[in-house]
Amino acid sequence: MEYFGFCKEIKEMGLPDVYEEEIYSGHFAKFYDTNVNDIFDVPLYEKLAREYGNHIMEFACGSGRILVELLKRGYDAAGLDISQDMLEILEEKCSKLNVKPTLVCDDMLRHVSSSKYDIIILARITICLLEDDETRIKLFNNVYNNLRDGGVFVFNYLDCPKEIELGEKRPTFLFNKDKKGYAIISEKIFEDRSIVNIYSETNIDDKTKRYITSTSKYLLNNEMISNIIDQTAFKHERTYTLNAVNYETGKMKFVVLKK
Ligand SMILES: C[S@@+](CC[C@H](N)C(=O)[O-])C[C@H]1O[C@@H](n2cnc3c(N)ncnc32)[C@H](O)[C@@H]1O
Repeated sequence: MEYFGFCKEIKEMGLPDVYEEEIYSGHFAKFYDTNVNDIFDVPLYEKLAREYGNHIMEFACGSGRILVELLKRGYDAAGLDISQDMLEILEEKCSKLNVKPTLVCDDMLRHVSSSKYDIIILARITICLLEDDETRIKLFNNVYNNLRDGGVFVFNYLDCPKEIELGEKRPTFLFNKDKKGYAIISEKIFEDRSIVNIYSETNIDDKTKRYITSTSKYLLNNEMISNIIDQTAFKHERTYTLNAVNYETGKMKFVVLKK
């Protein structure tokens, strides 16, 4: 994992109880679930379901920010994620709702479903986790194979401006809802990607635990997305622009591709 600034120093200080974890595992799986819970994009998926059918699969569904909403509203929705920890949080929510959706722990680049879906969703700019065009095209081709003829793939991204300020951004502080901890999120921007570092501290029963993680987000723009689509068998159906919650740029593009 790549660290810079504050997190790099924490790592090098050798403090006790510093746990390094993957961004969607252990403490950080719970952290994501607690802090990312807006549902501004759900009405768009409902609109697509009315048009294309309600047999839906969400790739990289995480702890179910979207999936739980779709299930509550009666859709036939399934989910897939590579993180067992994210899926365990989702399973717990499903059992409280008394629903039993198909949930699969697998890699979205390779997964072959026995069912063909009307809609496959890839949300929360998860496409930015894929490091190059070869991998993005591999994903698109795999989505294509898991869709029925005439089914659609919807994914989102942020159109990165040509002129971006490189270097470290001002860190963001986030206090846990239960006031038993906080996190500091820092980001360093390079030409083609940014590195995100998170330092998170909890204080439970007078015991302090420190967690750090790092991930890369690859920067995309409209031209790059068009180039990827051109190299697949998908037909571009339409693109929506929504005001996204929790993103500085605000505008998020939602691309709908048809098989
Ligand atoms: C930004 S979160 C999105 C979670 C959820 N879709 C949402 O909208 O809140 C990204 C998710 O992608 C999952 N992921 C990353 N790479 C994956 C892969 N190759 N296959 C399946 N899931 C993957 C992570 O485990 C994580 O849960």
